[in-house]
Amino acid sequence: MIRTILHYPDKRLRNEGKKLSLAEVKSEAVQKLIDDMAETMYAAPGVGLAATQIGEALQLFIVDCAAEDQPSDLRIFINPEILERHDEITWNEGCLSFPGVTEEIDRAARVKVRALDRHGNEFTIEAEELLAVAVQHEYDHLQGVLMIDHLGALKKRMVDRKMKKRAAESPSREDEGTAE
Ligand code: NI
Repeated sequence: MIRTILHYPDKRLRNEGKKLSLAEVKSEAVQKLIDDMAETMYAAPGVGLAATQIGEALQLFIVDCAAEDQPSDLRIFINPEILERHDEITWNEGCLSFPGVTEEIDRAARVKVRALDRHGNEFTIEAEELLAVAVQHEYDHLQGVLMIDHLGALKKRMVDRKMKKRAAESPSREDEGTAE
């Protein structure tokens, strides 16, 4: 089922995700949630989606950074921890919760991440380039941190205004989130 993606400035995007127990990971509800998130992300389309973006305050995000001409590469991260960050990279990022916005953001160029997969098995990966950026972006979402928080004061104000104007112009669209 395609779920509604919350848009900034919806306050629920500021919620922190709660850690999942192994029993919760294996539950039908969480398995269904993962399927819904994948369906929602591919329909958007996007390269990543955090549970907090659809109003589920859980430590869970998914990414698929495969190039368009490549087979899909869906990766699920539950209770993720970024163990190492190396070097710096500037990436032109977008976010499904900020439609129409792309901004250059500084991130670590390489990260080492530990998480559980959808079966509850622990894995560790080293990521670079787009995958590293996507993992850091989605990890942020689980802490209630958004791309706008990485911008300087002027750009932050511009994006904030643009998003609030957008929400005010189409308040009837249910995917617009709660306009302030
Ligand atoms: Ni995002």
